[in-house]
Amino acid sequence: MNAITSLTGRRVWDSRGRPTVEVEVHSGPHTGRAIAPAGASTGSAEAVERRDGGSAFGGRDVRQAVANVDRLIAPALVGLCVDDQQAIDAAIEALDPSPSLATVGANAAVAASLACLHAAAATRGEPLWQSLRGSDDGDVVIPLPEIQIFGGGAHAGRRIDIQDLMVMAPGAASFAEALDWTAEIYRAAGAGRTGSAGVADEGGWWPDFAANEDAIETLAAAVGAAGFVLGRDVVLSLDIAASEFWHDGRYRLALEDRDISTDEMIELVSRWCRDYSIASVEDPLGEHDVDGMRAFTAAMGDRVQVIGDDLYVTNAARVADLADAATAVLVKVNQAGTVTRTRAALDAARANGLGAVVSARSGESEDVSIVHLAVGWGAAQFKVGSITRGERTAKWNEMLRVEESLGRRARFAGWQPLHRPATTSVGGPS
Ligand code: PGA
Ligand code: ZN
Repeated sequence: MNAITSLTGRRVWDSRGRPTVEVEVHSGPHTGRAIAPAGASTGSAEAVERRDGGSAFGGRDVRQAVANVDRLIAPALVGLCVDDQQAIDAAIEALDPSPSLATVGANAAVAASLACLHAAAATRGEPLWQSLRGSDDGDVVIPLPEIQIFGGGAHAGRRIDIQDLMVMAPGAASFAEALDWTAEIYRAAGAGRTGSAGVADEGGWWPDFAANEDAIETLAAAVGAAGFVLGRDVVLSLDIAASEFWHDGRYRLALEDRDISTDEMIELVSRWCRDYSIASVEDPLGEHDVDGMRAFTAAMGDRVQVIGDDLYVTNAARVADLADAATAVLVKVNQAGTVTRTRAALDAARANGLGAVVSARSGESEDVSIVHLAVGWGAAQFKVGSITRGERTAKWNEMLRVEESLGRRARFAGWQPLHRPATTSVGGPS
């Protein structure tokens, strides 16, 4: 048995310049390390990270969470078998009276859980994705990337209401080609912008638009300008993150200074899907508007992927209970708090016929664990933000390395997780 010999916390920095938790685990000569990510548009039922409060860093320091790693988690895990992830995660959960992990801190928990996973792979001398997949030497699915071109919502000072305007390139022959195409689209979308326009939290262009639909139209035009055919080569995808602007049962589109009902929201997003070759929509309705999510899925789910993020918060029980409210689950490790809980949410998605998109957070680091979870667990989609900024490119580039290392065993997911749009067009609606 390879026992955990030491485990320590470290305070490091995330992509928003906020402190976060790193954990380093040793099993004899083998090491594993992981850094907790952090969301901005969080779901209310997520595992809860521990932040210090007070004035430093806007109350977001993590000294207590780091101390909890050393004071609580380390004594509970040292001596356990590093290969037994379920026992490790059960020991972490047992430290906290709350399922939300608020006392220990989901940031401390997730970094510790992932660091152990890395250390276990190190003891086997395997890349983490391989260690998760086991000895099977068949084809390996390389997920379709969902890549942000414009950022909005909570990631861009609420400059527009929609949070993520993204592209997917299912017509590409490989993950590497999908990145090539996306980089051309990113460049086309940025053409003519003034130097001061900058980027949003996940690296997408700052959204300088007068109406939400203008952003979608500009994105569709950029696909055409880059030489791709919408609906054939590339499709658009949105994360509306509608929980962020759902108030008193209405959707407040601040940019357009209007309030709309659930039915009007469903009608609006459905029209966008039809007009702009949108193949995937995340959180089109708010997390508490479950009937709205159900109605949207009933109306559009046979032609558009409907992803639940705030709705499911990577929670297996919520996925099973609300399986008719979307067609796919966003999978974020820190929403769950441990690797075992994350895997359970993915298994619940599969058991209920839902797709799965392994996702980063808006606050990230150079940590590439999720690349390995996505490949090792056979997820067909992967969402990491834009194709700029090191915390994003760290993950895209790691996926390139995995794809290259597989040679002919790599099978790019392409269209497999999506419905093909009925119509194609060059650069948007006619
Ligand atoms: P978050 O945003 O990490 O700020 O929650 C990502 C998402 O909503 O998918
Ligand atoms: Zn989301």
